[in-house]
Amino acid sequence: MKVAIIGGGGRVGSCAAFALQCGGLVSAIQILDANKDLADGEALDLLHGSAFAGDQKIYAGDYARAADSDIFLITAGLRRKPDESRLDLINRNVALFVGILDSIKAAGFRKDAHIFVVSNPVDILTQLAGQRLGLPWQQVYGLGTMLDTSRFSSLIAEELKLAPTQVKALILGEHGDSMLPVWSSATVNGLPLAGLAECSPSFQNTVFERTKGSGAEVIKRKGGAGWAVGIAIRDVIHAVLLNKQTLLPVSSLVQGAYDIRDICLSVPSVVSRKGVEKHVEIKLWPKEQMALQASARALKETLAKVKA
Ligand SMILES: NC(=O)c1ccc[n+]([C@@H]2O[C@H](COP(=O)([O-])OP(=O)(O)OC[C@H]3O[C@@H](n4cnc5c(N)ncnc54)[C@H](O)[C@@H]3O)[C@@H](O)[C@H]2O)c1
Repeated sequence: MKVAIIGGGGRVGSCAAFALQCGGLVSAIQILDANKDLADGEALDLLHGSAFAGDQKIYAGDYARAADSDIFLITAGLRRKPDESRLDLINRNVALFVGILDSIKAAGFRKDAHIFVVSNPVDILTQLAGQRLGLPWQQVYGLGTMLDTSRFSSLIAEELKLAPTQVKALILGEHGDSMLPVWSSATVNGLPLAGLAECSPSFQNTVFERTKGSGAEVIKRKGGAGWAVGIAIRDVIHAVLLNKQTLLPVSSLVQGAYDIRDICLSVPSVVSRKGVEKHVEIKLWPKEQMALQASARALKETLAKVKA
């Protein structure tokens, strides 16, 4: 499977490339970036490790060379400023993103190709990609709340001194201010976290607020997120590549689940070689369902303001 990373010279794109190289499953990684030197440099640096890391083909190249990709991973974009909400980025990023979609279209792409959006605001851009490229909705998805879910589970594990991979705690909705924690299904090795004395309402509130502020915290301290987002991207790509049918909180066009329609956001989604195979409507607590619907409304309001 070939993955073309558009914006692969940047922090998120290069961290994703490294995570995919270490994962050893994709067969080819193409780095494409508006800054050609950066793309060449990142591809070369990764290539230098291939003797020890794996036998993938790794190279830089343009849209014509990317036309045979199985997955177009779009990480190109402008970074959020520390005090800027993800949705405030919208007007700065939409024009750039539409230009990328048009370049993919002009150079050609396979009918079974997937578009995997990471650039922010990810839910809005995923929706635009679906509208612009005319691919089936299943093949157009965004990272959504994957990174938030990983941050949430990792921080809970750290605070409660549990193994991070045994903690499963979802974030759903918008990758942004209206995201919501799903405590109704949060578990450690299958047992409910809500049943743990330390997991009090005040702990729940603190750890969620810290999760929500994690993006801004990382931007403030090191300029932008990289490693964790790279791992989250790899998780989605491996679910596709291995046809895993993993339930993941990726963003895609929701058409009825949880009484939400016509908007891209994260609901529980089965990810396989087809892309987002289906949405699964698992009963949430009433306040969670209401927060998910409020998140959809917030995204619709933003979408209405987009000039694409
Ligand atoms: N969805 C998520 O969970 C998540 C997490 C972190 C970052 N992000 C988003 O990812 C994006 C990238 O962040 P970053 O930290 O890697 O930024 P960065 O500045 O390090 O990298 C962006 C790269 O995009 C390239 N680029 C710009 N315009 C381009 C174009 N038209 N065509 C091709 N390449 C182009 C730049 O040259 C640069 O190398 C941002 O929008 C950021 O908000 C999303």
